[in-house]
Amino acid sequence: MATDRRKFLKQFGTSVLLTSASLTSLAAKEEHEKRILQAEKRVSPNDKIRIATIGMGIMGFNDTHAALTVPGVELVAACDLYKGRLLRAKEVYGSNIFTTDNYHDILNRKDIDAVIVATSDNWHSPISIEAMHKGKAVYSEKPMVHHISEGLNEIKAQQETKAVFQVGSQRVSGIAFKKARELYQAGTIGKINAVEASFSRQSALGAWQYTIPLDASPQTVGWEQYQANSKVKHAYDSNRFFRWRNYREYGTGVAGDLFVHLLSGIHFITGSKGPDKIFSIGGLTYWKDGRNVPDVMSAVISYPESPEHPAFQATLRVNFVSGEGDRASTRIIGSEGVIDMSDGGGFTIHKSKMPVAPGYGGWDSFGTYPEAMQKAIVEEYNKKYSAADQQAPKMDDVVYHEPEGYNDSNEHFANFFDSMRTGKPVVEDAAFGFRAAAPCLACNDSYFENRIIKWDPVGMKLV
Ligand SMILES: NC(=O)c1ccc[n+]([C@@H]2O[C@H](COP(=O)([O-])OP(=O)(O)OC[C@H]3O[C@@H](n4cnc5c(N)ncnc54)[C@H](O)[C@@H]3O)[C@@H](O)[C@H]2O)c1
Repeated sequence: MATDRRKFLKQFGTSVLLTSASLTSLAAKEEHEKRILQAEKRVSPNDKIRIATIGMGIMGFNDTHAALTVPGVELVAACDLYKGRLLRAKEVYGSNIFTTDNYHDILNRKDIDAVIVATSDNWHSPISIEAMHKGKAVYSEKPMVHHISEGLNEIKAQQETKAVFQVGSQRVSGIAFKKARELYQAGTIGKINAVEASFSRQSALGAWQYTIPLDASPQTVGWEQYQANSKVKHAYDSNRFFRWRNYREYGTGVAGDLFVHLLSGIHFITGSKGPDKIFSIGGLTYWKDGRNVPDVMSAVISYPESPEHPAFQATLRVNFVSGEGDRASTRIIGSEGVIDMSDGGGFTIHKSKMPVAPGYGGWDSFGTYPEAMQKAIVEEYNKKYSAADQQAPKMDDVVYHEPEGYNDSNEHFANFFDSMRTGKPVVEDAAFGFRAAAPCLACNDSYFENRIIKWDPVGMKLV
């Protein structure tokens, strides 16, 4: 897709690949390599960080893999409620790792320094809070909480325990997001007024119909434990366990799953603490497989003027039935340009500035006046505006590409372990994680309750 974009831009001559952009890309690569070297230097054999992963599903494996790319990190244990995934953990990471279906067994071990919480959304907060109280550093997957009511408690637990706690929205560590933030803050797109961001998908797997193992049953799945913190208990159902995203009881719908990535990126670039008004609509239009969350959802979110940014509005959409195919898009729109982060791997900034003069002719009333009047208007206009004032300034696009092979998840884990080793602040703390998650959860509330939700982004409270 990035190559297509490059081709497109070249073909139409609307952009050049700026030398400065290529240089920044190189600088970013050097910065990345330098950090890895520094991490390697700091690690002595007794400086190992011993980790365990709780929730050994798709993201548990991905996160563990990313964590182990950081020098000096060792996996010692894994926890999951499906027996097959514990077997798989031993197949992948060696039969000597400790496995259990009870996360307390992990939290009670003194030889574990950090845990990755990669369970379904319903367990992020209770496990993370308990882990911090047990002296562990915590990497919690997004969204930080299942319910807005859990957020402040989790922030308090972090403040009381002083645990190293980082939320897992990897784009916050992404090199392209860092560069986009620098350029945004340097005023490259003028004054921000709108953001448009979306995810489009067109497949069963994209719509969360994940493969269910053939031995799935109450004998192989810890179903009772799984729904221990649910208000309403359901009889065992493989769909509810292996495709939990489709049920509000365990997941947070498209808003908690995907809007949260969009808002994390937007908040990171703009420095925003969040919106004050949230409204969303949605519908279950195609994937009618028993799920109780929409497969198409749109939200309109209002960001008030704040010390960090002018007022702007964001429109978000997830569409799991999109004839557009798989596509992700984030466009940050300002008065003098747009940062287009669509399809990952970098971004393009299209710059456009209004001329000083308003112009005449074209779709205008000018041509409706008598010839003598038109002549007089042109004379007047040319007296008032210089030739330069009459032209829109010509500005080149900026194109930025991540270094070859760059992976923001690896970077996010490197940052997490750096914080553990050096005590420097994490890149995505509990307040940031909650400020990104809460408005997304409010999108669900808005849709299900058919009302506008008001939010205090500074105090992190519903209004
Ligand atoms: N950062 C990202 O890009 C990204 C991508 C995908 C998923 N995620 C997040 O990762 C989390 C996991 O998603 P997934 O796709 O891996 O789901 P998954 O269903 O593949 O895995 C979740 C696992 O958690 C286990 N689990 C649930 N409750 C547990 C408990 N109380 N104790 C022990 N194990 C428990 C389940 O047995 C299951 O194997 C979600 O919260 C999701 O939002 C993040």
